[in-house]
Amino acid sequence: MNALMLEEYRRLRVEDVEAPVCGPQDVLVQVAACGICGSDVHGYDGSSGRRIPPIVMGHEAAGTVAAVGAEVRGFAVGDRVTFDSTIYCARCEYCLRGEVNLCEDRQVVGVSCGEYRRMGAFAEYIAVPEYVVYRLPEGLGFADAAMLEAVSVALHSVKLAEVAGGETALVIGAGMIGLLVLQAARVAGASRVLVADVDATRLKMAKTLGADEAIHASGAELVSEVLRLTGGRGVDAVFEAVGREETVGAAIDSVRKGGTVTLVGNIAAQVTIPLQRVVTRQIRLQGSCASAGEYPEAMELVASGRIKVGPMISAVAPLADGPAWFERLYAREPGLMKVVLDPRVAGAGQ
Ligand SMILES: NC(=O)c1ccc[n+]([C@@H]2O[C@H](COP(=O)([O-])OP(=O)(O)OC[C@H]3O[C@@H](n4cnc5c(N)ncnc54)[C@H](O)[C@@H]3O)[C@@H](O)[C@H]2O)c1
Ligand SMILES: [Zn+2]
Ligand SMILES: [Zn+2]
Repeated sequence: MNALMLEEYRRLRVEDVEAPVCGPQDVLVQVAACGICGSDVHGYDGSSGRRIPPIVMGHEAAGTVAAVGAEVRGFAVGDRVTFDSTIYCARCEYCLRGEVNLCEDRQVVGVSCGEYRRMGAFAEYIAVPEYVVYRLPEGLGFADAAMLEAVSVALHSVKLAEVAGGETALVIGAGMIGLLVLQAARVAGASRVLVADVDATRLKMAKTLGADEAIHASGAELVSEVLRLTGGRGVDAVFEAVGREETVGAAIDSVRKGGTVTLVGNIAAQVTIPLQRVVTRQIRLQGSCASAGEYPEAMELVASGRIKVGPMISAVAPLADGPAWFERLYAREPGLMKVVLDPRVAGAGQ
């Protein structure tokens, strides 16, 4: 089969490789769509250390069941499916609590990090355990389904923030994650959602997707604008979806006393925080990692149109164009958000 192989850092090529073996508890999926994730781009040049070559990346995928293992009961050939990219052990303390994203033995599809190497979905076929597979609702297309991982990330962060209804929220960063957090906060009942970014195009998208206010500012300027818009009080919940010192600081200064700052962005490995402001204003800092059980809800919300992913999909392209798209994403070409590759239309050896 064709697979997009990371042969060495910054060198991708469509190669002919052995198709994966479908184990007794596995579902073999013919991939119809696989999104290029920010983490793939950070792995591509070696900076994250989590895509050590040779590796076939890709974990945001959907497709059609091509075969099932002998013990698989829930799926049949021809089913349209997606899968959660986190393969968990189902036995450790965290898995038993349902916190599968925190599994002691967690593996992610399309990752090779020294401890393990799991070939991903930038390939014609991938085999995954039945317990991470979900049947797609009718009317949910493959490219939209490739966005479900990001939607689940957004839903998870909103769940951790305990948005119950009526809150004022601020989302910092109107990238793919931020725009989905905005929509997830709305679905959870936040009555007013402000979105901040430094990119006017993305803020325009935020407005289209339901932001009450789009704030074109960062740092101290952002904080004073949020305070002005909330009568000096600050918002109930902030979602930080950038991951830099300046935006984490602004998040802490924009939340009301006793409010929650949910940290989703993680570009910087380390930031300095205003400790006294966190303690004396009794702010909850809540980290949020991936998702744990949000896939079914994500599918339902996207299928029903309550969460829109279409505006975030910049292009759907054949697998053979993957190397060029990775370079464009790596170069941070303006206007690009999610690029989805379709391995069904890969030209052999291109
Ligand atoms: N916690 C998780 O499970 C999880 C999952 C996926 C992504 N992430 C992280 O979430 C973050 C966002 O991911 P994304 O895919 O949306 O990225 P993205 O590049 O699409 O979006 C980032 C946005 O932040 C904006 N931005 C940059 N500097 C800013 C500043 N100083 N003030 C305001 N806005 C600023 C950019 O203009 C852009 O719109 C990243 O750090 C990513 O690593 C976390
Ligand atoms: Zn991803
Ligand atoms: Zn586990």
